[in-house]
Amino acid sequence: MSDPILDHGALEECLRLVAAEAEAYLRSVDGALVRPPVPPAVDAVGGALPEEGAGSLSALRALIDAAQAGATRSAGPRFFHFVMGGGTPAALAADWLTSALDQIAFNWVSSPLAMELEQVAVDWLKQLFGLPAAWSGVLTTGATTANFTGLAAARRWWGLQHGVDVEEQGLSGLPPLPVLTSGHVHVSAIKALAMLGIGRAQVRVFAADATGRLDAEALAGALRELRGAPAILCATAGEVNAGGFDPLDAMADLAEEHNAWLHVDGAFGLFAAVSPTTRELVSGIDRAHSVGVDGHKWLNVPYDCGAAFVHDPEVHHGAFAATAAYLGREELDRPVFSNLGPEMSRRARAFSVWATLRAYGRDGYRAMVERHVGLARRLGERIDGEPELERLADVPLNVVSFRYRPADVPEGDLDELNRRLGHAVLDDGRVYFGTTVYGGKVAFRPAIVNWRTREDDVDLIVSTVLELAAALPPARA
Ligand SMILES: Cc1ncc(COP(=O)(O)O)c(C=O)c1O
Repeated sequence: MSDPILDHGALEECLRLVAAEAEAYLRSVDGALVRPPVPPAVDAVGGALPEEGAGSLSALRALIDAAQAGATRSAGPRFFHFVMGGGTPAALAADWLTSALDQIAFNWVSSPLAMELEQVAVDWLKQLFGLPAAWSGVLTTGATTANFTGLAAARRWWGLQHGVDVEEQGLSGLPPLPVLTSGHVHVSAIKALAMLGIGRAQVRVFAADATGRLDAEALAGALRELRGAPAILCATAGEVNAGGFDPLDAMADLAEEHNAWLHVDGAFGLFAAVSPTTRELVSGIDRAHSVGVDGHKWLNVPYDCGAAFVHDPEVHHGAFAATAAYLGREELDRPVFSNLGPEMSRRARAFSVWATLRAYGRDGYRAMVERHVGLARRLGERIDGEPELERLADVPLNVVSFRYRPADVPEGDLDELNRRLGHAVLDDGRVYFGTTVYGGKVAFRPAIVNWRTREDDVDLIVSTVLELAAALPPARA
């Protein structure tokens, strides 16, 4: 089989094959081991570039076999590692449609449907999170690019404060851009600052303790020393190790007083805004200048998806606008979402976002967030009830930080013990989460965001950890 046109007739059969496989896979995902015990066979998918193609059905069958062996069941309810959602039924099906229709979400001419849906999706997300309607917004590949987008707008604002159009002139001749943050700052925000030419070394972290909690006094002191010179404050709503929040209202006050742009990374923590029981955690979010959030985490749309929101649409547009003769000029009242983010050709991510919000609405998301917060608290209580486990932080939202701490093991040996136990958890595969270092201690940090997750899944965390800990071979001397 060579030219794909010869394979035209196989298209329907390919789609049927994959639909049947996807149905079977997803039917089993609730109970499956998160990581199958057999590592993927590279032999089956590797080798030299085929000179002659095998045909679509044959290629797909090989891919399906490889997926059986090598895909983590991350769409399932017991993948608590990192912070990973699944795809709600509406979002997943809409994602299939996205591929089938293959729209490019560049501008109106490329796809009126994609533009319309993105406009609505961004508006609905603003309503979901309580962000002002006048802000601009754009869908991104995730929170890293959402942070990049918000911080790019911040950089533009900062340049204009110095009388320089950074997108036009570049950064040379400008002073270093001060970025101030707490210890909760996520590595993706630092990565975005590096990509923006602001530089990792410009980031000053004001942490009150080893958990990264903001030292607000020290931050205020540093801002005073800037004497009104423009700066970026980078806040985190929902940090990865224990779900901690920076005090957004207090940081918004400081930003206002000291001529700073407040960017908030709310990759998953912005969902606290969805429920009255947790909304207080993001009080002040509407006073930020830019906000990033993920779609493939708590919104439970398939990878990849995020969103960035900026309080000043003009600054936002100025940071990303680009055109060329062949791309045409859009009428002013038609959105051009490629002018609000780093990508030009873009996947129509709005299909999934729109479909899931239309399907489940504000009430559905509130119910899911509250269920997950309840499950996290339940897990915290179970940990508290086990003498050999130690909870390391409060549970403000959906991440639970804890470690194994048997009475007879000295403190100095606990990090290594928990690391080994972490490997055992991943190898076991019934529940799935890794270790981190929190407050200077090696700790577990299961994060609950998957729409499928129920009590039974969460209860398995404590019983599995204790069972595996009891079976752990003694440490080598
Ligand atoms: C707080 C926070 N910010 C940013 C990110 C980066 O998100 P993504 O991997 O979707 O780019 C994450 C991912 O875990 C996160 O938890």
